[in-house]
Amino acid sequence: MGKTVGLEGSSEELESLRNELHDQRREAAEKERQLQRYASDLRVTFKAERAYAEELKASYVATVRALTNAVEARDAYTGAHADRVAAYGLELARRIDPGLARNPQVEFGFLLHDVGKVAVPDAILHKADDLGAEERELIRRHPVVGYEIVCGVEFLAEAAQIVRHHHERWDGSGYPDRLAGEDIPLAARIFAVVDALDAITTDRPYRPGAPLARARAEITSMAGTQFDPAVVAALDAIPDEVLERIRTRAGPCRAY
Ligand SMILES: [Fe+2]
Repeated sequence: MGKTVGLEGSSEELESLRNELHDQRREAAEKERQLQRYASDLRVTFKAERAYAEELKASYVATVRALTNAVEARDAYTGAHADRVAAYGLELARRIDPGLARNPQVEFGFLLHDVGKVAVPDAILHKADDLGAEERELIRRHPVVGYEIVCGVEFLAEAAQIVRHHHERWDGSGYPDRLAGEDIPLAARIFAVVDALDAITTDRPYRPGAPLARARAEITSMAGTQFDPAVVAALDAIPDEVLERIRTRAGPCRAY
């Protein structure tokens, strides 16, 4: 009799275990479905976030370019200077520190370097004769004015350092802060070299642009005084055809 009760007991237990297992399987299946829905929601959210970030980046670039064009529109002689100098600068930065070249703020800083010139009156900016001491001082304020214009914009905080220091010199005799050597941000040291490259090779009303070989020689002669020697050496390693391609290519809005 005791044996029969035992068997009945086992059969009930078995049934109960089966039910429990069934419930657990059902719960697990439901959890899996929930996880799949969650993963799918995450994928959709991630895709939307990525599209939004791309859109935001595109509007940053467009805003910076619009601001750059507003500055350049005042100076008919330099043409697409900011665009060219940014392209030279990124090419050089890629060879010195690829991470730096990938930072969009570096390109923004290159493009906006002279934004502070908005505070320089046309009569001084376009003056053909020698500038007086006061006029020269006014022009020399443009890095600080530019810095003050962009430093409050969160997405331009790092770019503002390039704007401020693009006229510093390796030997400490530049402006506005007379920084020397590696105290000058690397991107600003790179910029100073490519700014000179563009200035020397571009036609001006008072002289034609010099050939690339002459620009290279001039820049090399100032390695260690005006320019960071390591940056000059990196420029030397860029083949002529790469620099020529940048020099001759049209700016972003020059197709018409
Ligand atoms: Fe400048």
